[in-house]
Amino acid sequence: MTDRYAVIGNPIAQSKSPVIHMAFARQFGQDIHYEAILAAPDAFERTVRAFIAAGGKGMNVTAPFKLEALMLSDHLSERARAAQAVNTLSFTQDGIQGDNTDGFGLVFDIQHCLGRLLADQRVLVVGAGGAARGVLLPLLRARPASLLVVNRSVDKAQALIEPWKHDQPIAAGGFAAARGGRFDVVINATSAGLSDSVLDLGQDLYAPGALAYEMVYGRETAFMADARAQGAAVVADGLGMLVGQAAESFRLWRGVMPDVTQMLNQLR
Ligand code: ATR
Repeated sequence: MTDRYAVIGNPIAQSKSPVIHMAFARQFGQDIHYEAILAAPDAFERTVRAFIAAGGKGMNVTAPFKLEALMLSDHLSERARAAQAVNTLSFTQDGIQGDNTDGFGLVFDIQHCLGRLLADQRVLVVGAGGAARGVLLPLLRARPASLLVVNRSVDKAQALIEPWKHDQPIAAGGFAAARGGRFDVVINATSAGLSDSVLDLGQDLYAPGALAYEMVYGRETAFMADARAQGAAVVADGLGMLVGQAAESFRLWRGVMPDVTQMLNQLR
């Protein structure tokens, strides 16, 4: 029987995950079925359990259900625990395994696809919501020289770095703390790009040769336009992160790592 997978969210029609995972399966000549499932806001658990009962092997979870997926999981990976969110569920004999591959996708895109090693780099993360929390552990694992998290609401940035602040080169502040910082890598993890809001990060944000990374994909955001105007050497959107997180989910389920660059070229 063909193994069944799905992405669950609300809304879900825009999801690229079915196309990406079916293409990954073709890379290995594997036969899988992957669909998009819309769940009503109050029907996450019911919908997941129905999918398991129908023989489903795994699910990707997107907004607004990543926290519910965390709570539904019988076992959590370290990165899911750190992210306090689950984007990948695996249904096994031992129950529901919850993992989070978002941060892996970001770091993989930056280091592997964009060719920039994060070791010894001065990194700035803008934003302290779920998207930022999802990537901090994998970013720290890449051994940057420093990691500054800034947010409009300073208290949220401070709360975010709490687990690591005593033994990692991580700090938090308001936007003012980033001004003139000349960072090597600046990652926009706010949702401002979705509403075309401008982030007031000031001048001299970028060091020579810097990378500006927008987690939103599919559009030129105000953050990206500002980065170009300020002379960031490379400006990337989050499509590679999307494909990278999908690839790591596929690896968890299927035991083989897809070719992310090939998939990215196809999508672009
Ligand atoms: P997500 O899961 O996408 O991270 P979230 O948890 O709602 O969504 O977090 C949104 C993030 O974008 C927050 O860091 C938010 O800043 P606040 O915590 O101060 O609200 C940030 N954000 C959204 N719109 C913004 C804007 N116009 N300017 C600055 N920050 C913005």
